[in-house]
Amino acid sequence: MRNIQELFSLREKVVVITGGMGLLGKTYAEAIAIANGYPVIADIKLNGAEDFIKILEHETGGEGFACEVDITSEKSVQNLVEQTLEKYGRINGLINNAALTVAKGGTEFKDYFSAFENYPLKLWQLALDTNLTGMFLVTREIGKQMKKNSDGGSIVNVASTYGVVSPDHRIYQGTKSQYGEQSINTPIGYATTKSAVLNFTRYLATYWAKYKIRVNTLTPGGVFAGHDKTFVNNYSSRVPLGRMAKEHEYQGAMIFLLSDASSYMTGANLIIDGGWTCW
Ligand SMILES: NC(=O)c1ccc[n+]([C@@H]2O[C@H](COP(=O)([O-])OP(=O)(O)OC[C@H]3O[C@@H](n4cnc5c(N)ncnc54)[C@H](O)[C@@H]3O)[C@@H](O)[C@H]2O)c1
Repeated sequence: MRNIQELFSLREKVVVITGGMGLLGKTYAEAIAIANGYPVIADIKLNGAEDFIKILEHETGGEGFACEVDITSEKSVQNLVEQTLEKYGRINGLINNAALTVAKGGTEFKDYFSAFENYPLKLWQLALDTNLTGMFLVTREIGKQMKKNSDGGSIVNVASTYGVVSPDHRIYQGTKSQYGEQSINTPIGYATTKSAVLNFTRYLATYWAKYKIRVNTLTPGGVFAGHDKTFVNNYSSRVPLGRMAKEHEYQGAMIFLLSDASSYMTGANLIIDGGWTCW
């Protein structure tokens, strides 16, 4: 009889999480530690990482490691790989989770939510650099290391429902941004790059299958993070399950994709969106 706990175990597995200090990145780090793996929290901003790791180690009895990285820089990505190998000697899993998101973009760039007709070239390019070129660099460098493992590895690329369908622009009407003056929306660069993640996944799934490196996409739906009431109502009315996601609701899927529980799965897109893309 198979032991189901063993099937979902990440015992001795070293998993790099880009954007590991973000809203969802932290929940993945926690889940990996609970599954007995070693999360490597890789982020351009490590503010609070030390405290987060202390809490994580205390709560899970596991171990965490943080490394600063700018995924858009080749040199910085190589440094992340070197530091991880120095600490653990191997890399078994990768979550390509860092992105230019509404939360980060909205707070840092006033024109992030501009209308398409005036959309700034620099922000379109920044979305491409972060969401695609960053994913390319990290995957290239870490995949090289995974090829050396006799049991390959598992790569999870994080997309979005807006990489599968267009945003419904009507849900932003009458909303107030929690980040500043403008109402929020989903900019073109975000949706376009998230769509490209799906075929980036399929390409590498077929390319690296012979090395037992599995590559899958996780497509999350919107997570509640202090949005205003109008937005929450507009969003929820479009979701068959009638609500936004809670941040921990992707942990189970992530452990499934990283572990042997998904050993016959590659090139797939696991959509978890309360049913948003069903209709
Ligand atoms: N939160 C949601 O509702 C939602 C929905 C669908 C998909 N997603 C996807 O899930 C992933 C995580 O989302 P989140 O809500 O946790 O976002 P977040 O903004 O909280 O976290 C993203 C993290 O990426 C880091 N980052 C940005 N640029 C970087 C760079 N150049 N190098 C290294 N790190 C960098 C940021 O510092 C941040 O910690 C993203 O790919 C996002 O598109 C999120």
